[in-house]
Amino acid sequence: MLEQLLWVIFPYIAIVVFIFGHIKRYKDDQFHWTAKSSEFIEKKQLKWGSLLFHLGIVPVFFGHVVGLLIPASWLSAIGINDHMYHLGAVYIGSIFGFMTLIGMFLLTYRRISKASVLRLSSASDIIVNIMLLIIVFVGCYATVVTNFTTPEFDYRSTISVWVRGLLTLSPQAELMREVPMSFKIHVLLGFAIIMLWPFTRLVHVWSVPTNYGTRSYILYRKHAPRN
Ligand code: HEM
Repeated sequence: MLEQLLWVIFPYIAIVVFIFGHIKRYKDDQFHWTAKSSEFIEKKQLKWGSLLFHLGIVPVFFGHVVGLLIPASWLSAIGINDHMYHLGAVYIGSIFGFMTLIGMFLLTYRRISKASVLRLSSASDIIVNIMLLIIVFVGCYATVVTNFTTPEFDYRSTISVWVRGLLTLSPQAELMREVPMSFKIHVLLGFAIIMLWPFTRLVHVWSVPTNYGTRSYILYRKHAPRN
């Protein structure tokens, strides 16, 4: 029963809340659909933390799409065998994973240590920061430690097949039974943040600012000249 709760019911609740939560927030609260920038309070730490986090998380996201959604057999059909995949996933994944981790650490440290930023932060802002920091830390730990201490474990024949089962409405909770604890914690916290997503500043992800790297965090407009 616990197995079904953790690996079937909870992820489905998270996905449903994610979808309907966004629809409701978009209808009722467009005015607060924002990343809630605090650039005007402190700029230097924000710049480094935000830059590292965003440059890291985008490749990490695409790594998740490839590793979780594309069956290993499809990749080997185009010449990417297990060995090549794992070299890429571990080395490239770790580089971008650690970039994300350092960025997230700087952002969390800034939010908590700078009294003026902390005063402006809601409980949701702080929870999001701390949850992301833990998820990214555990993801990096699973990649660089668990993958090596349990070489017989292959997430592409367990976690990835389980994720695809969820998305095709044929969930198989038993696939998660032998998964090491670090991966289990990572995945459960991952679904927890997916569930909270629509109620936090993370909604800004869907308003992708394509000029994000070059523009200021906050856009100021000039006053129109008075007639
Ligand atoms: C919700 C479902 C999620 C699943 C099933 C999942 C699964 C995984 C797996 C299997 C790995 C190991 C990759 C490897 O060893 O090559 C990993 C690593 C990682 N994950 Fe996740 N993850 C999820 C959510 C998230 C979220 C929400 C974040 C960040 C916001 C995240 C950030 C990371 C990072 C930074 C790594 C280490 C670097 C890397 O290997 O790319 N994950 N995740």
